[in-house]
Amino acid sequence: MPYGSRLAATMTRRLGRACVYTPSARLALYLALRRWCRPGARVLMSPVNDDVILFVVLAAGCRPVQAPVSVWDGNIDPAAVPEATWRGIDAVLTTNLYGIPDRVVQLRRRCDQLGIPLIEDAAHAIGTHVDGRPVGTFGTAAAFSLSKHVAATAGGFLAVEDARTRRELELLRDDLLTPRRLREDLTVTLRPLARSSVRTLHLVRPVWRTMQRLGLLERDAFRMALHAPRLTASALSAPSLTAYEPWVRVDLHAFRVRHGTLVRGQLALRMAHLDDDLTRRRAGVALLAGTAWASPALRERAVPDGPLPLFRVPLLVQGRDALLERLVDHGMVCGYVYDPPLDDYAGAEFVEPSPDPSAARWFASHVLPADPLTARRMTGALTRERVATARPPVREAPTAAVT
Ligand SMILES: Cc1ncc(COP(=O)(O)O)c(C=O)c1O
Repeated sequence: MPYGSRLAATMTRRLGRACVYTPSARLALYLALRRWCRPGARVLMSPVNDDVILFVVLAAGCRPVQAPVSVWDGNIDPAAVPEATWRGIDAVLTTNLYGIPDRVVQLRRRCDQLGIPLIEDAAHAIGTHVDGRPVGTFGTAAAFSLSKHVAATAGGFLAVEDARTRRELELLRDDLLTPRRLREDLTVTLRPLARSSVRTLHLVRPVWRTMQRLGLLERDAFRMALHAPRLTASALSAPSLTAYEPWVRVDLHAFRVRHGTLVRGQLALRMAHLDDDLTRRRAGVALLAGTAWASPALRERAVPDGPLPLFRVPLLVQGRDALLERLVDHGMVCGYVYDPPLDDYAGAEFVEPSPDPSAARWFASHVLPADPLTARRMTGALTRERVATARPPVREAPTAAVT
Protein backbone atom coordinates (compact mmCIF):
# COMPACT_ATOMS: atom_id res chain seq x y z
CA MET A 1 0.00 0.00 0.00
CA PRO A 2 1.39 3.46 -0.83
CA TYR A 3 2.54 5.52 2.13
CA GLY A 4 -0.34 7.37 3.85
CA SER A 5 -2.96 5.80 1.60
CA ARG A 6 -5.58 5.45 4.37
CA LEU A 7 -5.42 9.14 5.16
CA ALA A 8 -5.45 9.94 1.45
CA ALA A 9 -8.57 7.77 0.99
CA THR A 10 -10.36 9.71 3.74
CA MET A 11 -9.56 12.99 1.99
CA THR A 12 -10.61 11.55 -1.38
CA ARG A 13 -14.01 10.70 0.12
CA ARG A 14 -14.42 14.30 1.31
CA LEU A 15 -13.28 15.92 -1.90
CA GLY A 16 -14.15 13.47 -4.67
CA ARG A 17 -10.62 13.78 -6.07
CA ALA A 18 -7.60 11.48 -6.05
CA CYS A 19 -5.30 12.51 -3.18
CA VAL A 20 -1.67 11.91 -2.25
CA TYR A 21 -0.75 12.13 1.43
CA THR A 22 2.22 14.38 2.24
CA PRO A 23 3.74 15.33 5.62
CA SER A 24 2.93 19.01 4.89
CA ALA A 25 1.12 21.28 2.44
CA ARG A 26 4.42 22.90 1.47
CA LEU A 27 5.71 19.54 0.24
CA ALA A 28 2.43 19.05 -1.66
CA LEU A 29 2.92 22.43 -3.37
CA TYR A 30 6.51 21.59 -4.22
CA LEU A 31 5.36 18.32 -5.81
CA ALA A 32 2.73 20.14 -7.87
CA LEU A 33 5.20 22.75 -9.09
CA ARG A 34 7.76 20.10 -10.02
CA ARG A 35 5.15 18.05 -11.85
CA TRP A 36 3.50 20.87 -13.82
CA CYS A 37 6.15 23.62 -14.12
CA ARG A 38 9.49 23.36 -15.89
CA PRO A 39 12.48 25.12 -14.27
CA GLY A 40 12.31 28.82 -15.10
CA ALA A 41 8.50 28.80 -15.31
CA ARG A 42 6.83 32.06 -14.29
CA VAL A 43 4.21 31.50 -11.59
CA LEU A 44 1.57 34.16 -10.87
CA MET A 45 0.88 34.32 -7.12
CA SER A 46 -0.37 36.70 -4.45
CA PRO A 47 2.24 38.74 -2.57
CA VAL A 48 0.07 38.51 0.57
CA ASN A 49 1.20 35.01 1.34
CA ASP A 50 3.36 33.00 3.72
CA ASP A 51 7.05 33.56 2.93
CA VAL A 52 7.54 29.77 3.11
CA ILE A 53 5.47 29.48 -0.08
CA LEU A 54 7.70 31.97 -1.87
CA PHE A 55 10.66 29.73 -1.02
CA VAL A 56 8.79 26.63 -2.20
CA VAL A 57 8.29 28.34 -5.59
CA LEU A 58 11.97 29.30 -5.72
CA ALA A 59 13.03 25.79 -4.66
CA ALA A 60 11.04 24.39 -7.59
CA GLY A 61 13.19 26.57 -9.85
CA CYS A 62 10.29 28.89 -10.78
CA ARG A 63 10.11 32.68 -10.98
CA PRO A 64 7.41 34.11 -8.62
CA VAL A 65 5.38 36.80 -10.44
CA GLN A 66 3.47 38.94 -7.95
CA ALA A 67 -0.15 39.70 -8.83
CA PRO A 68 -2.27 42.74 -7.94
CA VAL A 69 -4.64 41.73 -5.15
CA SER A 70 -8.06 42.74 -3.93
CA VAL A 71 -8.02 45.25 -1.09
CA TRP A 72 -11.02 43.35 0.30
CA ASP A 73 -9.41 40.00 0.91
CA GLY A 74 -5.76 39.98 -0.20
CA ASN A 75 -6.40 37.36 -2.90
CA ILE A 76 -5.36 37.73 -6.56
CA ASP A 77 -7.56 40.19 -8.47
CA PRO A 78 -7.68 38.59 -11.95
CA ALA A 79 -9.25 41.71 -13.51
CA ALA A 80 -6.28 43.85 -12.39
CA VAL A 81 -3.62 41.53 -13.85
CA PRO A 82 -2.28 43.24 -17.01
CA GLU A 83 -2.76 41.40 -20.31
CA ALA A 84 1.01 41.38 -20.86
CA THR A 85 1.43 39.56 -17.54
CA TRP A 86 -1.17 36.94 -18.46
CA ARG A 87 0.61 36.31 -21.74
CA GLY A 88 3.96 35.83 -19.97
CA ILE A 89 3.06 33.37 -17.22
CA ASP A 90 3.26 29.57 -17.15
CA ALA A 91 1.06 28.78 -14.12
CA VAL A 92 -1.18 30.36 -11.48
CA LEU A 93 -0.92 29.59 -7.76
CA THR A 94 -3.89 30.71 -5.61
CA THR A 95 -3.77 31.38 -1.86
CA ASN A 96 -7.39 31.29 -0.59
CA LEU A 97 -6.09 33.60 2.09
CA TYR A 98 -7.37 32.69 5.58
CA GLY A 99 -9.92 30.41 3.85
CA ILE A 100 -11.65 33.13 1.77
CA PRO A 101 -11.78 31.59 -1.69
CA ASP A 102 -9.88 33.00 -4.61
CA ARG A 103 -11.82 34.12 -7.70
CA VAL A 104 -11.25 30.60 -8.84
CA VAL A 105 -13.88 30.36 -11.56
CA GLN A 106 -12.35 33.33 -13.40
CA LEU A 107 -8.84 32.02 -12.78
CA ARG A 108 -9.71 28.56 -14.08
CA ARG A 109 -11.30 30.04 -17.21
CA ARG A 110 -8.24 32.18 -17.87
CA CYS A 111 -5.82 29.31 -17.25
CA ASP A 112 -7.83 27.09 -19.64
CA GLN A 113 -7.70 29.80 -22.33
CA LEU A 114 -3.94 30.06 -21.89
CA GLY A 115 -3.42 26.30 -21.57
CA ILE A 116 -1.55 26.65 -18.26
CA PRO A 117 -2.04 24.84 -14.92
CA LEU A 118 -3.97 26.30 -11.99
CA ILE A 119 -2.50 25.17 -8.68
CA GLU A 120 -4.74 25.80 -5.69
CA ASP A 121 -3.19 26.41 -2.31
CA ALA A 122 -6.09 25.30 -0.14
CA ALA A 123 -4.01 25.11 3.06
CA HIS A 124 -6.34 27.61 4.76
CA ALA A 125 -9.49 26.48 2.99
CA ILE A 126 -10.54 22.93 3.85
CA GLY A 127 -14.32 23.02 3.80
CA THR A 128 -14.71 26.26 1.79
CA HIS A 129 -16.99 26.01 -1.26
CA VAL A 130 -17.46 28.10 -4.40
CA ASP A 131 -20.71 27.60 -6.34
CA GLY A 132 -21.34 24.53 -4.16
CA ARG A 133 -18.03 22.97 -5.16
CA PRO A 134 -15.14 22.49 -2.70
CA VAL A 135 -12.09 24.70 -3.07
CA GLY A 136 -9.37 22.34 -4.18
CA THR A 137 -11.40 20.79 -7.00
CA PHE A 138 -11.06 23.61 -9.53
CA GLY A 139 -7.36 23.38 -10.26
CA THR A 140 -4.98 21.01 -11.96
CA ALA A 141 -3.83 20.23 -8.41
CA ALA A 142 -4.57 21.48 -4.89
CA ALA A 143 -2.62 21.40 -1.62
CA PHE A 144 -4.24 20.98 1.82
CA SER A 145 -2.73 21.31 5.30
CA LEU A 146 -3.88 19.42 8.38
CA SER A 147 -1.71 21.69 10.55
CA LYS A 148 -4.26 24.42 10.04
CA HIS A 149 -7.65 22.87 10.60
CA VAL A 150 -7.39 20.09 13.14
CA ALA A 151 -4.58 21.51 15.30
CA ALA A 152 -2.14 18.87 14.12
CA THR A 153 1.49 19.80 13.52
CA ALA A 154 1.87 17.60 10.47
CA GLY A 155 -0.03 16.32 7.50
CA GLY A 156 -1.13 17.49 4.09
CA PHE A 157 -2.53 16.32 0.78
CA LEU A 158 -2.12 16.97 -2.87
CA ALA A 159 -5.43 16.52 -4.70
CA VAL A 160 -5.18 15.76 -8.41
CA GLU A 161 -7.53 15.02 -11.28
CA ASP A 162 -7.02 11.28 -11.78
CA ALA A 163 -5.57 8.10 -10.29
CA ARG A 164 -2.74 7.82 -12.83
CA THR A 165 -1.39 11.25 -11.89
CA ARG A 166 -1.76 10.30 -8.23
CA ARG A 167 0.44 7.23 -8.68
CA GLU A 168 3.04 9.28 -10.51
CA LEU A 169 3.09 11.85 -7.70
CA GLU A 170 3.34 9.17 -5.01
CA LEU A 171 6.64 8.07 -6.57
CA LEU A 172 7.89 11.65 -6.82
CA ARG A 173 6.92 12.19 -3.16
CA ASP A 174 8.67 9.02 -1.99
CA ASP A 175 11.92 10.29 -3.54
CA LEU A 176 11.64 13.51 -1.53
CA LEU A 177 10.78 12.05 1.88
CA THR A 178 13.51 11.80 4.49
CA PRO A 179 13.69 8.74 6.79
CA ARG A 180 11.51 8.41 9.84
CA ARG A 181 12.95 9.43 13.23
CA LEU A 182 11.27 8.31 16.45
CA ARG A 183 12.19 11.57 18.19
CA GLU A 184 10.46 13.56 15.42
CA ASP A 185 7.35 11.36 15.64
CA LEU A 186 7.13 11.90 19.39
CA THR A 187 7.58 15.66 18.99
CA VAL A 188 4.88 15.85 16.32
CA THR A 189 2.50 13.79 18.46
CA LEU A 190 3.08 15.67 21.71
CA ARG A 191 3.31 19.25 20.43
CA PRO A 192 -0.46 19.74 19.82
CA LEU A 193 -1.15 18.41 23.32
CA ALA A 194 1.42 20.81 24.83
CA ARG A 195 -0.14 23.70 22.90
CA SER A 196 -3.66 22.97 24.07
CA SER A 197 -2.43 22.59 27.69
CA VAL A 198 -0.79 26.02 27.49
CA ARG A 199 -4.10 27.46 26.27
CA THR A 200 -6.25 25.63 28.81
CA LEU A 201 -3.99 26.68 31.67
CA HIS A 202 -4.02 30.33 30.47
CA LEU A 203 -0.25 30.28 30.04
CA VAL A 204 -0.12 31.74 26.53
CA ARG A 205 1.27 35.10 27.66
CA PRO A 206 4.13 33.87 29.92
CA VAL A 207 5.12 31.07 27.55
CA TRP A 208 5.16 33.38 24.50
CA ARG A 209 7.10 36.14 26.29
CA THR A 210 9.64 33.62 27.60
CA MET A 211 10.14 32.18 24.12
CA GLN A 212 10.60 35.71 22.74
CA ARG A 213 13.19 36.55 25.42
CA LEU A 214 15.13 33.30 24.94
CA GLY A 215 15.21 33.78 21.15
CA LEU A 216 13.29 30.52 20.62
CA LEU A 217 11.00 31.93 17.92
CA GLU A 218 12.08 31.35 14.34
CA ARG A 219 11.08 34.84 13.23
CA ASP A 220 11.95 38.16 14.87
CA ALA A 221 9.44 39.92 12.63
CA PHE A 222 6.42 38.77 10.59
CA ARG A 223 8.83 37.62 7.87
CA MET A 224 11.84 35.34 8.37
CA ALA A 225 15.30 36.79 7.62
CA LEU A 226 15.90 36.60 3.86
CA HIS A 227 19.68 35.90 3.88
CA ALA A 228 19.91 37.25 0.33
CA PRO A 229 23.50 36.15 -0.50
CA ARG A 230 22.73 32.56 0.58
CA LEU A 231 19.49 32.65 -1.37
CA THR A 232 21.31 33.80 -4.49
CA ALA A 233 23.76 30.93 -4.07
CA SER A 234 20.93 28.41 -3.63
CA ALA A 235 19.48 29.43 -7.01
CA LEU A 236 22.48 27.76 -8.65
CA SER A 237 21.14 24.37 -7.43
CA ALA A 238 17.42 24.98 -8.20
CA PRO A 239 15.24 23.03 -8.58
CA SER A 240 16.27 21.54 -5.26
CA LEU A 241 14.31 21.17 -2.04
CA THR A 242 17.51 20.47 -0.11
CA ALA A 243 19.20 23.72 -1.22
CA TYR A 244 16.21 25.74 0.03
CA GLU A 245 15.52 23.71 3.15
CA PRO A 246 16.71 26.42 5.63
CA TRP A 247 13.81 28.62 4.40
CA VAL A 248 11.21 26.01 3.48
CA ARG A 249 11.33 24.23 6.86
CA VAL A 250 10.56 27.35 8.97
CA ASP A 251 7.67 26.64 11.41
CA LEU A 252 7.59 22.96 10.39
CA HIS A 253 11.01 21.29 10.44
CA ALA A 254 9.54 17.85 9.78
CA PHE A 255 7.86 19.00 6.56
CA ARG A 256 9.40 16.17 4.52
CA VAL A 257 9.84 13.47 7.16
CA ARG A 258 8.26 10.06 6.56
CA HIS A 259 6.23 9.92 9.78
CA GLY A 260 5.38 6.53 11.31
CA THR A 261 2.07 5.03 12.38
CA LEU A 262 2.04 6.99 15.66
CA VAL A 263 1.73 10.28 13.79
CA ARG A 264 -0.52 8.98 11.02
CA GLY A 265 -2.83 7.29 13.55
CA GLN A 266 -3.16 10.57 15.45
CA LEU A 267 -3.90 12.40 12.19
CA ALA A 268 -6.63 9.86 11.33
CA LEU A 269 -8.26 10.55 14.72
CA ARG A 270 -8.00 14.29 14.20
CA MET A 271 -9.47 14.04 10.70
CA ALA A 272 -12.48 12.25 12.15
CA HIS A 273 -13.20 15.51 14.02
CA LEU A 274 -12.74 17.75 11.00
CA ASP A 275 -16.47 18.41 10.54
CA ASP A 276 -16.86 19.40 14.22
CA ASP A 277 -13.90 21.73 13.78
CA LEU A 278 -15.52 23.31 10.70
CA THR A 279 -18.83 23.76 12.54
CA ARG A 280 -17.10 25.55 15.42
CA ARG A 281 -15.24 27.73 12.93
CA ARG A 282 -18.50 28.72 11.21
CA ALA A 283 -19.94 29.82 14.56
CA GLY A 284 -16.86 31.97 15.29
CA VAL A 285 -16.92 33.45 11.78
CA ALA A 286 -20.62 34.35 12.17
CA LEU A 287 -19.81 36.23 15.37
CA LEU A 288 -16.75 38.08 14.01
CA ALA A 289 -18.40 38.86 10.64
CA GLY A 290 -21.04 40.83 12.51
CA THR A 291 -18.51 43.17 14.14
CA ALA A 292 -17.38 46.57 12.90
CA TRP A 293 -13.86 45.22 12.28
CA ALA A 294 -14.91 42.55 9.78
CA SER A 295 -13.43 42.94 6.32
CA PRO A 296 -16.05 43.81 3.67
CA ALA A 297 -15.10 40.46 2.11
CA LEU A 298 -17.03 38.93 5.02
CA ARG A 299 -19.79 41.42 5.62
CA GLU A 300 -20.90 42.43 2.17
CA ARG A 301 -20.57 39.27 0.11
CA ALA A 302 -23.55 37.05 -0.35
CA VAL A 303 -23.05 33.75 1.42
CA PRO A 304 -26.32 31.85 1.00
CA ASP A 305 -24.92 28.69 2.59
CA GLY A 306 -24.08 30.54 5.81
CA PRO A 307 -20.72 31.56 7.19
CA LEU A 308 -17.52 30.12 5.75
CA PRO A 309 -15.49 27.77 8.01
CA LEU A 310 -12.46 30.06 7.87
CA PHE A 311 -9.02 29.28 9.20
CA ARG A 312 -8.64 32.90 10.27
CA VAL A 313 -11.09 35.79 10.06
CA PRO A 314 -9.65 38.88 8.38
CA LEU A 315 -10.44 41.87 10.59
CA LEU A 316 -9.28 45.30 9.42
CA VAL A 317 -7.93 47.46 12.23
CA GLN A 318 -5.97 50.62 12.78
CA GLY A 319 -2.70 50.39 14.71
CA ARG A 320 -2.44 46.67 13.92
CA ASP A 321 1.20 46.10 14.91
CA ALA A 322 0.93 47.63 18.39
CA LEU A 323 -2.39 45.85 18.87
CA LEU A 324 -0.81 42.44 18.18
CA GLU A 325 1.59 43.06 21.09
CA ARG A 326 -1.26 44.08 23.41
CA LEU A 327 -3.29 41.02 22.43
CA VAL A 328 -0.55 38.81 23.90
CA ASP A 329 -1.49 40.31 27.28
CA HIS A 330 -5.05 39.11 26.58
CA GLY A 331 -3.64 35.60 26.03
CA MET A 332 -3.90 35.70 22.22
CA VAL A 333 -0.99 35.27 19.83
CA CYS A 334 -2.08 36.03 16.25
CA GLY A 335 0.20 34.47 13.66
CA TYR A 336 -0.21 34.36 9.89
CA VAL A 337 0.50 38.06 9.36
CA TYR A 338 2.01 38.35 5.87
CA ASP A 339 3.50 41.82 6.02
CA PRO A 340 5.25 43.29 4.04
CA PRO A 341 3.99 41.83 0.74
CA LEU A 342 6.45 39.39 -0.85
CA ASP A 343 7.73 41.84 -3.50
CA ASP A 344 8.64 44.42 -0.84
CA TYR A 345 10.17 41.68 1.31
CA ALA A 346 12.26 39.85 -1.27
CA GLY A 347 12.93 42.47 -3.96
CA ALA A 348 13.25 42.20 -7.73
CA GLU A 349 16.19 39.80 -7.66
CA PHE A 350 13.96 37.05 -6.30
CA VAL A 351 10.44 37.97 -7.42
CA GLU A 352 8.84 39.92 -10.23
CA PRO A 353 7.11 42.84 -8.46
CA SER A 354 3.41 43.51 -8.79
CA PRO A 355 2.50 46.29 -11.27
CA ASP A 356 0.23 47.76 -8.57
CA PRO A 357 1.37 46.94 -5.03
CA SER A 358 -0.88 49.47 -3.23
CA ALA A 359 -3.78 47.15 -2.32
CA ALA A 360 -1.40 44.43 -1.09
CA ARG A 361 0.46 46.92 1.10
CA TRP A 362 -2.73 48.33 2.57
CA PHE A 363 -4.31 44.95 3.24
CA ALA A 364 -1.14 43.35 4.65
CA SER A 365 -0.56 46.21 7.07
CA HIS A 366 -4.14 46.43 8.40
CA VAL A 367 -5.35 42.85 8.57
CA LEU A 368 -5.67 41.14 11.93
CA PRO A 369 -6.12 37.40 11.31
CA ALA A 370 -8.43 36.36 14.15
CA ASP A 371 -8.88 32.74 15.13
CA PRO A 372 -12.63 32.01 14.85
CA LEU A 373 -12.27 29.41 17.62
CA THR A 374 -11.55 32.25 20.07
CA ALA A 375 -14.04 34.72 18.54
CA ARG A 376 -15.71 35.72 21.81
CA ARG A 377 -12.44 36.41 23.56
CA MET A 378 -11.20 38.40 20.55
CA THR A 379 -14.29 40.64 20.37
CA GLY A 380 -13.98 41.25 24.14
CA ALA A 381 -10.32 42.20 23.83
CA LEU A 382 -10.87 44.47 20.80
CA THR A 383 -13.75 46.23 22.57
CA ARG A 384 -11.68 46.77 25.74
CA GLU A 385 -8.76 48.04 23.65
CA ARG A 386 -11.16 50.42 21.80
CA VAL A 387 -9.77 49.30 18.47
CA ALA A 388 -10.76 51.45 15.48
CA THR A 389 -11.81 49.88 12.18
CA ALA A 390 -9.59 50.48 9.15
CA ARG A 391 -11.51 51.27 5.97
CA PRO A 392 -10.10 50.17 2.61
CA PRO A 393 -9.01 53.22 0.57
CA VAL A 394 -11.05 52.31 -2.52
CA ARG A 395 -14.26 50.40 -2.92
CA GLU A 396 -14.26 47.59 -5.41
CA ALA A 397 -17.20 45.98 -7.07
CA PRO A 398 -17.83 42.70 -5.25
CA THR A 399 -16.59 40.29 -7.93
CA ALA A 400 -15.80 37.43 -5.58
CA ALA A 401 -17.26 34.00 -6.08
CA VAL A 402 -18.17 33.13 -2.51
CA THR A 403 -21.25 30.99 -2.18
C1 LIG B 1 -1.05 29.95 2.66
C2 LIG B 1 -0.25 28.79 3.14
N1 LIG B 1 -0.03 27.77 2.31
C3 LIG B 1 0.68 26.69 2.68
C4 LIG B 1 1.21 26.60 3.96
C5 LIG B 1 2.02 25.39 4.32
O1 LIG B 1 1.29 24.51 5.13
P1 LIG B 1 2.12 23.41 5.93
O2 LIG B 1 2.54 24.06 7.20
O3 LIG B 1 1.17 22.27 6.11
O4 LIG B 1 3.28 23.04 5.09
C6 LIG B 1 1.01 27.63 4.87
C7 LIG B 1 1.57 27.52 6.21
O5 LIG B 1 1.28 28.26 7.08
C8 LIG B 1 0.25 28.75 4.46
O6 LIG B 1 0.03 29.76 5.31
